[in-house]
Amino acid sequence: MSSKTISDRVEALLAEMTIEEKAGQLTQYFYFGGLPDPEPGTEIHVVPSKMRAYVEAQAKIGGVGSVLFVRDAAELNRLQKLTVEGHRLGIPLLVGYDVIHGFKTIFPMPLAVAASFEPAIAERGQSIAAKEARSIGIHWTFAPMVDIARDPRWGRIIEGAGEDPYLGAAMAAAQVRGFQGSDLAAGENVLAGPKHFAAYGASLGGRDYDEVNVSDSELHNVYLPPFEAAVKAGAENFMTAYMGVNGIPATANKYLITDVLRNEWGFKGFLVSDANAVFNLITHKFAKDKAAASAAALNAGLDMEMAMIESGYAGIPEAVANNEVSIEIIDDAVRRVLTAKAKLGLLDNPYVDVERSQKVLNDPAHRIAARESAEKTFVLLKNEKNALPLDAANLKSIAVIGPFGDNKRDLLGPWSFAFDVNETISILDGIKSRVGAGVKVEYAQGVAHERRIHPSIFDGDPNNHVNDPADFNEEVEFAKAVALAKISDVVVMVLGEQQAQIGEQAARSTFELPGRQLELLKAVAATGTKVVLLMQSGRPLDLNWASENIPAIMNIWYPGTSGGAAIANTLFGDISPAGRLPITWVRSVGQVPMIYSRHVSHEPHNSDNRYWNEPGSPLYIFGHGLSYTNFAYSDLSLDKKALSKTDSLNVDVVVTNTGNRDSDEVVQLYIHQRYGTAIRPIREMKGFKRLHIKAGESANVSFVLTPRELRYWNAAVKGWVNDSTHFDIWVGGSSAAELHGEFEVK
Ligand code: GLC
Repeated sequence: MSSKTISDRVEALLAEMTIEEKAGQLTQYFYFGGLPDPEPGTEIHVVPSKMRAYVEAQAKIGGVGSVLFVRDAAELNRLQKLTVEGHRLGIPLLVGYDVIHGFKTIFPMPLAVAASFEPAIAERGQSIAAKEARSIGIHWTFAPMVDIARDPRWGRIIEGAGEDPYLGAAMAAAQVRGFQGSDLAAGENVLAGPKHFAAYGASLGGRDYDEVNVSDSELHNVYLPPFEAAVKAGAENFMTAYMGVNGIPATANKYLITDVLRNEWGFKGFLVSDANAVFNLITHKFAKDKAAASAAALNAGLDMEMAMIESGYAGIPEAVANNEVSIEIIDDAVRRVLTAKAKLGLLDNPYVDVERSQKVLNDPAHRIAARESAEKTFVLLKNEKNALPLDAANLKSIAVIGPFGDNKRDLLGPWSFAFDVNETISILDGIKSRVGAGVKVEYAQGVAHERRIHPSIFDGDPNNHVNDPADFNEEVEFAKAVALAKISDVVVMVLGEQQAQIGEQAARSTFELPGRQLELLKAVAATGTKVVLLMQSGRPLDLNWASENIPAIMNIWYPGTSGGAAIANTLFGDISPAGRLPITWVRSVGQVPMIYSRHVSHEPHNSDNRYWNEPGSPLYIFGHGLSYTNFAYSDLSLDKKALSKTDSLNVDVVVTNTGNRDSDEVVQLYIHQRYGTAIRPIREMKGFKRLHIKAGESANVSFVLTPRELRYWNAAVKGWVNDSTHFDIWVGGSSAAELHGEFEVK
């Protein structure tokens, strides 16, 4: 280990670099290791084999600072060797990857983890993901995705924490802690790269990549808080978003990058663009050419470009020669990138122990942790007459029906790459092993697996989709499923969207159940056999009929590698579900966007009847979720009736498990500012705690409201304010919490 300080080593390297080599350090290339070339004639224009050859040639001349999409330890060692030994400066590669919800062991999708309302679960999952990724030579993840999303037509809602900035901020900070740990050089952690800075979730019409126009108030009160929380948690990297924010591309948005992120929040790390986004400043009709694009991004404060072959940063030497960007700005950017490499210990050793990585990747404790995480995420939306839990001792036959009942790949969700699909526990597997040989468990697919061809290069990987055999006959399979339902004691129905129908480039304009799923649900229910519906979905798919006709409905999101085991434990009551909705579950797409934290109108009495053709209320509200018991809230106490603008308020409440089953409960605290210098939401979450309470027992839960929880960004004064006002406060098990208190801020 060198005795020189990081700064000394960085300065020494910088002093030796040419402008071309500096541009190289600021360029990250897709490598697409292990991906096949697309079939001729497809619309995919990326040819992985060409990319790999180009990147290797660039690495030998100091033209590459970083790569992404390599997921093999030996391959990464080879690339590092080629780079370190191939070029005079021997600067190793910084290796990035989308480790969004696990690397080989796949954890539930982030929106599912948000539904746990337990940040510790997010932190633990990302800590394991970091350990697996780092073991094979990945140093940096493009995560957490912290975009607040209030339009579920937008497929990337599944990657974040939903609609609420308070929940989003807690989940963002927890994930940064999980990824980065306490020692980046120790070889078990990775740089966290919160994305997409900023407000990507507000894409027009929920259409991925479309423009974003947000008010200052929305930007500061809704979309920025999770990013600020990530900075406070110590994030070492940020990724800028693809699109324009109020007409200024996020990639070259000085206000966001320099004024807010660096100057106001004190961010000291480095920024990377999203894919090809510096080059695409030209495509966005913002920059004239590569030199102008490079200058615009660098002058705004961006550091690295995530590039394809047509890299925008190839214009850096010309931009410097034209005095469009100063060499000092270039040097600062290179410093930040080299400092990140030094912090990770890469300047001393960029190689990994391939044998050790196999042990880390196959640690059974990781799959147990994935199951425990998944068990916390399920949201029991309806449970009429205690239809759940199922009593295995009193069942002779169970029918598992639906296209996702025996489906391993889709259970993992999108942004899953290095998995071994055979390690996935399907729902059918989970139920069979839970109930044992004494209960007959049979499967019927019922309807076809819709095959959505995803427009990305990854669709070319056959591991990424489940295809029906050529002779699949839906009429026959549909009839088989109904016949099986008729002769079974209970049906576990698994419906929803496949993993390619949500996530990036997966916006959807309607929310009906895909294909003939609803028809199948109705036909199975018509047999009279009890039906439990499991929804594999990150969107509020249309449950209007089901909510009237199906006794139990549970949203399981995309639960990951151990999903089937987690679902079985929940179905049979080994654990009680306690997840809560981090999004508003609308009745129809026409209601979008719909949020719980809306402003009151001048006619508050009919706010739930804004449409003449259907109720204006959602089907299920933010924070909703049932368990296998009930909870009562009492003894709400505030330690002050009035406080100054700098005081904090202590809030206590007693929560009692009044049922006969132990369960977790998510205690939620909401505030409402009655008047002030701007209109504020009718309710805003400013506290939540998940805790386990045994049947019949009570627990005291405490919250602290500081001036920070009570402040908001005011469009009139263009800054943060704490008003002198009166607040209502509610505490309960959802955003409809009823136990009420009030206090005054003088
Ligand atoms: C994608 C996404 C971004 C991801 C990057 C690398 O297009 O927008 O979230 O990290 O490219 O895969």
